[in-house]
Amino acid sequence: MGFNYAQFTIELAKLFDGFSLSPSSVYLFDTITSTNVILKELLEQGHKPPLVAIASQQTAGKGQWGRTWYSPPGGLYLSIALDLSLSVQELPHLTLWSAWGIAQILRKYDIPVGLKWPNDLILKGRKLGGIKSETTIYQGHIQKGIIGIGVNWSNEVPPTGISLQSFWTSDTVPPIVSLEQLGAIILTGVFQGYDYYLSQGSDRLLEVYVQLLESMGSSVVVNGVTGIITGVTLQGELKVRFDAPGSSTQIALPPGTISLGYNTY
Ligand code: BTN
Repeated sequence: MGFNYAQFTIELAKLFDGFSLSPSSVYLFDTITSTNVILKELLEQGHKPPLVAIASQQTAGKGQWGRTWYSPPGGLYLSIALDLSLSVQELPHLTLWSAWGIAQILRKYDIPVGLKWPNDLILKGRKLGGIKSETTIYQGHIQKGIIGIGVNWSNEVPPTGISLQSFWTSDTVPPIVSLEQLGAIILTGVFQGYDYYLSQGSDRLLEVYVQLLESMGSSVVVNGVTGIITGVTLQGELKVRFDAPGSSTQIALPPGTISLGYNTY
């Protein structure tokens, strides 16, 4: 059975007081290439944000760094298109507010989600989901953003992954009971993250993002040298400090230059 639109809007209304997403702005699909690609096409055809696309499965789901996001039935595949007015330097902020917004809302449901730089949602050391954001840039300005989110609900996951349904043991009452409710929660989390960014500013957003970063203080090897992760910059770079007797240096690594592992147990 596919994603139920009526159920989704009921769940959304429970969470998002005063928020109305016109039914014509929400696109549901059974099987599709990628919800990010569909929203890009809808924007090109002149449809106005906010737009939401949700698919029961994707045949060419897009992951970070050109990877494919395996998207079998049972997972949440959701993209949101927004009108934005950001400078190109602020591009990493999309991922910061989305990842933080999703993590903080799931934590309210007793799901202790943390973040792995730059865009992974982590649960018990494993990957629960990820974010792939894309933008349209005109004259040095970001005008529109597409935030694509994949969350493992009941789908099969790779060895380093985890699904929400496998996280809850049989003797717990799950705080989230359907894919539609999960979709409404994730969408609300992204909008709350965006509101937080707009009202509190990027410095404050970065502070709260870093509080949820699981790798803070862990060691990482860069070009054969071991350093300590000390934070993330507003440009979305990972800050790493190298200590040597009598001196210490800090570098900032752009997203994609190194990959942090998982602490599976
Ligand atoms: C990652 O590599 O961690 C990011 C994965 C993002 C996957 C989601 S699924 C919904 C949206 N549509 C896509 O094609 N990708 C994103």
